[in-house]
Amino acid sequence: MDLNSIYNDALDDLKNIKNKGDLPLIKSKYIGRKGKVTELFKELTSLPKEERKDFGQKINEVQNKLKELFEEHEEKFRLNAFNIKLNDITRDAYPIESGRTHILNQTYEDIYNVFKSMGFTVVEGPEIEDEFHNFEALNFPKSHPARDTQDSFFFDDKSLLRTHTSPVQIRIMESWEPPFAVISPGKCYRRDTIDASHSFMFNQIEGFLVDEDIGVGHLKAILDIFVQKIFGEDVKFRLRPHFFPFTEPSMEIDIGCIFCGGKGCNVCKNTGWIEIMGAGIIDPNVFTLSGIDPEKHSGFAFGMGVERIAMLRQNINDMRLIYGNDLEFLKQFRG
Ligand code: DAH
Repeated sequence: MDLNSIYNDALDDLKNIKNKGDLPLIKSKYIGRKGKVTELFKELTSLPKEERKDFGQKINEVQNKLKELFEEHEEKFRLNAFNIKLNDITRDAYPIESGRTHILNQTYEDIYNVFKSMGFTVVEGPEIEDEFHNFEALNFPKSHPARDTQDSFFFDDKSLLRTHTSPVQIRIMESWEPPFAVISPGKCYRRDTIDASHSFMFNQIEGFLVDEDIGVGHLKAILDIFVQKIFGEDVKFRLRPHFFPFTEPSMEIDIGCIFCGGKGCNVCKNTGWIEIMGAGIIDPNVFTLSGIDPEKHSGFAFGMGVERIAMLRQNINDMRLIYGNDLEFLKQFRG
């Protein structure tokens, strides 16, 4: 085989090279110890002396040229690998999904905003309460049957996980001078079995206003704005007589069923009304037990379940979804 065709073959091989690993093979095929070009040097001895020098030089030239080409190719592969890495760095970042406020906190915020706009202050109370604030001062005497509806987690005889946010009424009345208007959010605990509408932990917002000459009319005016802003301008509500130990009179607040418009459906159990909270005029006993003069002051209070409000507004039929951390569920709600 002559030098030229060996050289051309080498060029062809280099042109068709597919991956970096082939380069050493081609290199040794031509300029390795037993390479085609290297073998030609051995043939020199069989040439007439005068031709040897000339041909030797030619083989050398070809060998050097090939060495150069191999080096160029090596460099090319190295640069390619580097560029791939470089492209990697400058590639668009993975899309970052921004988080959003949890449906429960959205509901909290919407409710805060309504009451803040009417001058209420947001105050939190302790989740571990004593028996006095959770029951006694709210007019639940020891062994009163009303305590049975709030099956509780006690730590010892005196302290328990609060069963509602109403104890914050007492704590504020003990330390603030009326007039005041407060809402108090937070977790509450009852010994309940989890199902679609119950949980051992849930969220409440307590509200209360204490001043002079406060009556049901004031409560109704505040609730009117609350219902309009949270459920819609056209939604009706009513006050229905009920019993709570710490209010007199006591009532439950129902809104006109937002699912059937009051015609009757299975959400409102065909009554056309849905209960959204408890409320009432603060019992004089509660004032006395909290150090406020009931002859001088009066006030109203109300309490609602935040999950319930969220479920009604978003048509969620199982409370467990709210705590489930299922992103597909949570993503449905604006952040
Ligand atoms: N604390 C009550 C409960 O958890 C809710 C409640 C009812 C709060 C009437 C009030 C109220 O302030 O006036 O069942």
